[in-house]
Amino acid sequence: MLNNQIINWYCENKRDLPWRNTKDPYLIWISEIMLQQTRVVTAIDYYYKFTKRFPTVTDLALADEQEVLNLWQGLGYYSRARNLHHAAKTIHTIYKGIFPSTYKEILALKGVGTYTAAAISSFAFNLPYAAIDGNVYRVLARLFGIETPIDSTEGKKLFQNLATETMGNARPEVYNQAIIEFGALQCTPKSPSCSICPVHSNCFAYSSNMIDQLPVKSKQIKPK
Ligand code: ADE
Repeated sequence: MLNNQIINWYCENKRDLPWRNTKDPYLIWISEIMLQQTRVVTAIDYYYKFTKRFPTVTDLALADEQEVLNLWQGLGYYSRARNLHHAAKTIHTIYKGIFPSTYKEILALKGVGTYTAAAISSFAFNLPYAAIDGNVYRVLARLFGIETPIDSTEGKKLFQNLATETMGNARPEVYNQAIIEFGALQCTPKSPSCSICPVHSNCFAYSSNMIDQLPVKSKQIKPK
């Protein structure tokens, strides 16, 4: 099964990243927000610095906004830090400092979209939500030969269903990390090493020479 092949690949190839050694939803949330527009290597230092100063959601909720922004200095997209602070206060007041544990409640937090809600729900609570980031769109589009644009309403629905099906009965926390990492390290945007890929014999894009054409984006800026 595809899910097992990707999980086996993950067990042998995964990076040891700090947010993978915790089940604390607060720490996972911080890492996922940082990773939205920041590369993994850059995020690691910020993650350590931020979570050292604010080890719990209550510490963050009670902090001065300026201090939160100072710790974010250099990461850019400061609305992420403001939303984190805002959501921390929500968790502090509404949930008495206990991170909510349902997908719906997590999704309702400021700055949390469907990807991040699925990531926190699965990594911290092992809930069966497929987390689909850019890496996962690329892997699924290539494996299944999906030409529907990933940024269209139709595409989002289609990939959501496909991702849930592909997860099958694998453990959501492991499967989601595995397919994200598989996209980041193996099924890379440019020049992936398909000859050593464990699932190339099941890959539509590989067998039809379409690696460079998939995934499709409708709002893609075409080179002149
Ligand atoms: N990008 C987004 N989430 C990630 C994670 N948990 N590990 C590695 N890269 C990621």
